[in-house]
Amino acid sequence: MDYPKVVLFDAYGTLFDVYSVGLLAEQLFPGQGQALSILWRDKQIEYTRLVTTSDNGAHYQPFWELTRAGLRYACKRLGLELGAEREQQLMNQYRHLSAFPENREVLQALRTRGVTTGILSNGDPQMLGVAVRSAGLDGLLDHVISVDGVRKYKTHPDAYRLGTQAVKRPANQILFVSCNAWDALAATWFGYRTLWVNRYRLPFEELGTEPTRTGSSLDDVFAFFD
Ligand code: LAC
Repeated sequence: MDYPKVVLFDAYGTLFDVYSVGLLAEQLFPGQGQALSILWRDKQIEYTRLVTTSDNGAHYQPFWELTRAGLRYACKRLGLELGAEREQQLMNQYRHLSAFPENREVLQALRTRGVTTGILSNGDPQMLGVAVRSAGLDGLLDHVISVDGVRKYKTHPDAYRLGTQAVKRPANQILFVSCNAWDALAATWFGYRTLWVNRYRLPFEELGTEPTRTGSSLDDVFAFFD
């Protein structure tokens, strides 16, 4: 098979470490930081599905707002007093999530090989812009694609289709990289070649479809170019 012409990355969880908010969460709520960061993330993703699958998308809100709603829910669920100031601090931290260390070199190396690079993410354009700049990744990405363009979150096929439309290539010429198993699965169903980066040694989804490859860091994209 030909090498992929394009590599599109998921953003949150894949390029940016969504659990890096756990440190601040731990300072604010000792003993609860990890639980809060996990529940926050799970609720944020649940809300993306809720608004996409209900009522023809009439309840769409940008990812930033769903992230805030997820934080509020997670704190209530864990019995933590959030308050305006701590909410502001945690949301600010979310805006500037740590990037995984290998990102820059991998993007640089892909570009050196003439491969087109991009992000395809649930994040809204403003959030993605800030995250990309604060991680120093601007200039290394040919496309930053937000599902906000169709107001439908992954795993809706219209969201994945934004990638093929932006780069003007069929899905099987594109490698989609995600650390989220559900995202790698649905991208495979859509027709992308996929790399699931299993950073947390989790099982893959049990729905009868496997990603094209599984790896443990973004460096594993190069297995597609051997
Ligand atoms: C994203 C979500 C999946 O960046 O984290 O699209």
